[in-house]
Amino acid sequence: MLYIGIDLGTSAVKLLLMDESGKIHNIVSKEYPLYFPQPGWSEQNPYDWYDKTIEGMKELIEGADKSQIRGISFGGQMHGLVILDENDEVIRPAILWNDGRTTKEVEYLNGAIGKETLSAYTANIAFAGFTAPKILWVKANEPENFRRICKIMLPKDYLAYRLSGTFCTDLSDASGMLLLDVKNRCWSKEMCDICGITMDQLPKLFESYEKVGVVKPEIAGELGLPGDVIVAAGAGDNAAAAVGTGTVGNGRCNISLGTSGTIFISSDTFGVDRNNALHSFDHADGKYHLMGCMLSAASCNKWWMEDILGTKDFGAEQSGIDKLGENHVFFLPYLMGERSPWNDPMARGTFTGITMDTTRQDMTQAVLEGVAFATRDMYEVAKSIGIKPLRTKICGGGAKSPLWRKMIANILNLKVDIPSCEEGPGMGGAMLAMVAAGAYESVEAAAEAIVKVSGTEEPDPVLVEKYEARYQQFKTLYPALKDAFQVIA
Ligand code: XUL
Repeated sequence: MLYIGIDLGTSAVKLLLMDESGKIHNIVSKEYPLYFPQPGWSEQNPYDWYDKTIEGMKELIEGADKSQIRGISFGGQMHGLVILDENDEVIRPAILWNDGRTTKEVEYLNGAIGKETLSAYTANIAFAGFTAPKILWVKANEPENFRRICKIMLPKDYLAYRLSGTFCTDLSDASGMLLLDVKNRCWSKEMCDICGITMDQLPKLFESYEKVGVVKPEIAGELGLPGDVIVAAGAGDNAAAAVGTGTVGNGRCNISLGTSGTIFISSDTFGVDRNNALHSFDHADGKYHLMGCMLSAASCNKWWMEDILGTKDFGAEQSGIDKLGENHVFFLPYLMGERSPWNDPMARGTFTGITMDTTRQDMTQAVLEGVAFATRDMYEVAKSIGIKPLRTKICGGGAKSPLWRKMIANILNLKVDIPSCEEGPGMGGAMLAMVAAGAYESVEAAAEAIVKVSGTEEPDPVLVEKYEARYQQFKTLYPALKDAFQVIA
């Protein structure tokens, strides 16, 4: 049997066709525009997501035995606010996870409502990218749009709704809305009241591996699919990527170097970081996880390579970099502000330490290292609450670079296991569809059978020591610049 995993990302939708053994039959990617209507704002058009998904799906299954296709599911960019009116029309462009417009609303939630109260209701505090502050922003700034809201959903849920007709979400993705009681896996009535919405405007909650419906007959007809193809709820892209890298069960770690950068720790039991610097969310395996998220990771390198250096040959730019741990240039990767651990939408990207002998190569190295140092910042928070994994998986576009993997291993002093397939969220999506269809009895069983590791990047004690000294220097930069960022942003 065949399953389709849909990774609804920020720059593109990536679709993957996989069988139960984990063999990938095809991968297709379709890009769509990302809009920055004002500095720090970030929006996309949900109609683009749907159109490109259908276009991609047609290409993906062309030539495949369509009668074998059994299920579809998703890993979707998290936190984005999608609002529909009474005719199911999209009311305004989706406000994305890396949008920083909600400073006032975040201040109101964390200040007037209070972090302790929010944490008691949801297990989390407010961050600019989360969904609840965006609802408050629409209420304050676009009252006419707010009045028209009938349905509130997350990006991948828009696809599930269009494909199956079920108004649904899953618990891992819903966790990032700041409307979910994460511990008890249900909506928080109190948070709905705070945001001025009602529970019937919110989607029905499912576990990620549950069936929400089947593909609508007219879409199945258009795609040439059988009449009973299952749509499973799917997960937020990080939880889906964790499934795709086998980061399920207790105490496992995954680092993702995608547009965003995350550190994800799976857990059998519910837990909260006492300072709420790490998010406490439900996992796609039916349990829980903690996660730190930096807003710009592989996107820093893409920006530096494509927009500044004007090249697409990332490998060539990285090939001469050999003085690891000795770079005198530092880069702060806060191109969209920063979420974990600083929660500061005003933070900005910065090069520092440049001298007359600084080369293009030093600056490329600084960009890669800056992302790895900022990942270490999140890892330090995890360590401070007693989480000390010995190894991690890695995924996302940045994980394809052997040099970047080496930096991560040495800057975090962690063994980095490289999954044989780095299509984290898409693969996780396909695996969730398999569980929904009954091909595996649990997400853990699917991961056990399917996920393979192709190699491990071991930390080198000499480099670990050199990088430790550099990290101690990096650590001083954000606190020193914090006030200046407020002035210049
Ligand atoms: C996680 C987060 C990002 C997006 C990227 O909290 O905001 O990782 O999910 O798609």
